[in-house]
Amino acid sequence: MKVIKVKNSDELGVSAAEFVSERLMSLEKPIIGLATGSTPEKLYANLIKKCQSKEISFKNVTTFNLDEYVGLAQDDPTSYHYYMDKNLFNGIDIKRENTHVLDGEAEDLQKECDHFERLIQETGKMDLQILGLGLNGHIGFNEPGTSFNSRTHIVELSETTIKANARFFPTIQDVPTKALTMGIGTIMEAKEILFLVQGEHKAEILQKVVHGKVTEGVPASILQRHPNITLITDIDI
Ligand code: GLP
Repeated sequence: MKVIKVKNSDELGVSAAEFVSERLMSLEKPIIGLATGSTPEKLYANLIKKCQSKEISFKNVTTFNLDEYVGLAQDDPTSYHYYMDKNLFNGIDIKRENTHVLDGEAEDLQKECDHFERLIQETGKMDLQILGLGLNGHIGFNEPGTSFNSRTHIVELSETTIKANARFFPTIQDVPTKALTMGIGTIMEAKEILFLVQGEHKAEILQKVVHGKVTEGVPASILQRHPNITLITDIDI
């Protein structure tokens, strides 16, 4: 795992945006996996700036998002659809039909997962997957105990995740208990991974992820085995 050490979230946003921009410019039709949460917000803000100043373009880019809550409408401010529109898609020149976010309101959720997985396989492997880290070691919404071979699937969110994400909702009771997520097997097939981890509260879990045993109990520990991964972090590891 290559490591880029930064001082704070501002530097992380700048460094990550440089990294993503370089990949966008070197590929003809980039396929990018996107993450949500607080960590990539400054990355996306910087990408919008670079796109508006014509330094980069998303015209030939296809995106797949890692996950979405079950039961939230796309225009619900706490859904990941809304997050992506607000934090990235509305500010860049991407073609809407080339953006893919799981539909957490689908009538048949399993069918939605299978369709999303098929679409990824048909489009081609992710050239670059952007990843964050959950407090319990989750990636996407793959909670501890998820098989390393998993494909896009329905998940039951853990107490830790519900508590950690409650800050985005009016009350903790409003946090959905289920979600859809790209599987760990799918994530590991990305040609390259950009792993973003920011804040002292993630220091303990990041040590386990990077230096601990590779175990399904710590989903992100599998990243130790990815052949082309860069970690950008403000944590000493
Ligand atoms: C959420 C998302 C993950 C994200 C993680 C960390 O639950 N499903 O994809 O990486 O939590 O989020 P944050 O950056 O807000 O700490």
